[in-house]
Amino acid sequence: MSSTSEPLLQVRHLNVTFETPDGPVAAVQGLSFNLEAGKTLALVGESGSGKSVTAYALMRLLPPATRIEGETNYGNENLLELSEARMRALRGKDIAMVFQEPMTALNPLTRIGLQIRESLYRHTHLRGAAARARVLELLQQVGIP
Ligand SMILES: Nc1ncnc2c1ncn2[C@@H]1O[C@H](COP(=O)(O)OP(=O)(O)OP(=O)(O)O)[C@@H](O)[C@H]1O
Ligand SMILES: [Mg+2]
Repeated sequence: MSSTSEPLLQVRHLNVTFETPDGPVAAVQGLSFNLEAGKTLALVGESGSGKSVTAYALMRLLPPATRIEGETNYGNENLLELSEARMRALRGKDIAMVFQEPMTALNPLTRIGLQIRESLYRHTHLRGAAARARVLELLQQVGIP
């Protein structure tokens, strides 16, 4: 589809390289794509091809030693160059991720309500009973009573 407006997210020549004891591992090499507002984009590839690493790189959730190159323009900001404070404001609000392994993404020692509420506390003004009501509503939306 042709569009006159800028894509919501433009990724250009993304490279992600891990420094390991066995040498550098190039997990993503020269990846470019556009994501249009209101559209869904699927990255399809075999296991280990770098889909998750791409998502982690965009969320800036990779270890500090990881080498990330390229441009990731979100609106007029390059995600790779934003301050941690700005990134925290975007993460979980504008840009979010459903992690692949729930057993490592969710803390098994903390109730799910508290973990969902954490995001509401960071990004909304909901507190107390209102926050709790919103958490219950969100769980109901995904069929968890
Ligand atoms: N911290 C790390 N250090 C070194 N290599 C890593 C690290 N994290 C990921 N990799 C490697 O990066 C490559 C891409 O992994 P990634 O998890 O992105 O694959 P994927 O496409 O999401 O696979 P799947 O379909 O199995 O989820 C793999 O070779 C993986 O072993
Ligand atoms: Mg994956």
